[in-house]
Amino acid sequence: MSFGLSRGRELQFDGYGLDRSDLPPFEEGPWDPRTLFENPDHRFELEIGSGKGTFLVQQSVLQPETNHLGIEWAGEFFRYAADRVRRHAMKNVRVLHDDASEIVSHRLPDEICEVVHLYFSDPWPKTRHHKRRVVQDETMRAFHRVIVPGGELRLVTDHDDLWAWYEDHAGRHQDLFERGEFESPESAGDGEVVGTNFERKFRREGRPFHSMTLRKR
Ligand SMILES: C[S@@+](CC[C@H](N)C(=O)[O-])C[C@H]1O[C@@H](n2cnc3c(N)ncnc32)[C@H](O)[C@@H]1O
Repeated sequence: MSFGLSRGRELQFDGYGLDRSDLPPFEEGPWDPRTLFENPDHRFELEIGSGKGTFLVQQSVLQPETNHLGIEWAGEFFRYAADRVRRHAMKNVRVLHDDASEIVSHRLPDEICEVVHLYFSDPWPKTRHHKRRVVQDETMRAFHRVIVPGGELRLVTDHDDLWAWYEDHAGRHQDLFERGEFESPESAGDGEVVGTNFERKFRREGRPFHSMTLRKR
């Protein structure tokens, strides 16, 4: 299925977007995404399911000293977001085409992310599909491993059942994370929680949103 995002334009993302086949072989051990950036020692944040890249593009201009990686597994959205980042020549943003759960669980080194952003993640409402949700007991442990001490996992959703799932997981992993209020990023517009594409679409439909921040203990 095509969403027609390119509108006939040829999308280009050399140097800004990378595919899982560009990563070093698994056998070589952890892969450090900070090495993708001109200043690998800068603060590093990860967005899972970056969609069209709106959060990455909006927030990264306000945080030029932070490197941002978006991971997106839908090819068309990945290409659109990576092309967008290239058009803006954003030195501090890269987009990876891969499954973020796998990357976080099996490829990232320990304690590299100041913040992991997960906004309007796919809810997978059918019980038999719950295993496809990004938040799982295993990924909660993986997030805890890759986030720096005091760093954060930020969650926003419009979906009541996914929200209950987040609350369950936050409750079960209180030894790993302390739950707190979500603070909107600077790039959010008036009355917005984050200001992603899905938030704007759902807001027009009048849906309420849920949000929390989990701080690594
Ligand atoms: C509902 S969209 C939200 C996109 C964006 N965050 C927003 O709020 O506009 C969820 C996105 O997450 C992506 N996604 C879902 N599971 C993923 C995973 N395990 N790894 C990477 N991307 C994922 C989907 O392909 C989709 O683009």
